[in-house]
Amino acid sequence: MYFIKLFFIILAIYIPVSCVQEADVQDQQVSDNGKASSLIDGQKLYAKLCAGCHGRGGKGTKQGPPLIHKIYEPSHHNDASFYRAVKKGVQAHHWQFGNMPPIENISDSDMSTIIFYVRHQQRKVGIK
Ligand code: HEC
Repeated sequence: MYFIKLFFIILAIYIPVSCVQEADVQDQQVSDNGKASSLIDGQKLYAKLCAGCHGRGGKGTKQGPPLIHKIYEPSHHNDASFYRAVKKGVQAHHWQFGNMPPIENISDSDMSTIIFYVRHQQRKVGIK
C-alpha cells in the first residue's frame, strides 16, 4: 500500500515537470523557426530595396558603401539610424558615393526585418 502511494506521489511530481520541459523545447523550436524565416524575409527585402547600392550581403557597390563595415556596428550606427536613413535619406558624410535618397513605402516591420538581417551579416564577420 505504501509503495502504491509513493508511486502516485512521484507520478504527481514528475508529470508536471516533464510537461514544462517539453513546452520549453517546443518554444525554442518555434522561435528558431521564426528567426530562420525572418532572416530569409530580411534577405529578400534587403536584396530588393538596398542591395542595388549596398551590395549583395551588404558588401557595397559603386553606388553605395558596405553596411558590413565597422562604422555601421550597432554602437556607432544603432537601429534608429537605419530607420532615419531610410525615411529621410542620408547626406553623404562618411564616403564619396553621394547622398542616399529616402526609400519610400517601407513599413517599420519590414525595416526591423531588414535590420535583423544586416545585423546577422555583421555578426558573421565579427562586427558586433
Ligand atoms: C540609391 C542608393 C542607395 C540605396 C537604394 C540605399 N542606400 Fe543606404 N546609403 C547610400 C549611400 C551612398 C550611403 C552613404 C552616405 C555617406 O556618405 O555617409 C548610405 C548610407 C546608409 C546608412 C548609414 C546612415 C548614416 O547615418 O550614416 C544606412 C544605415 C543605410 N544606408 C541603410 C540602407 C538601407 C537599410 C537600405 C535599403 C532599405 C538602403 N540604405 C538603400 C545609398 C543607398
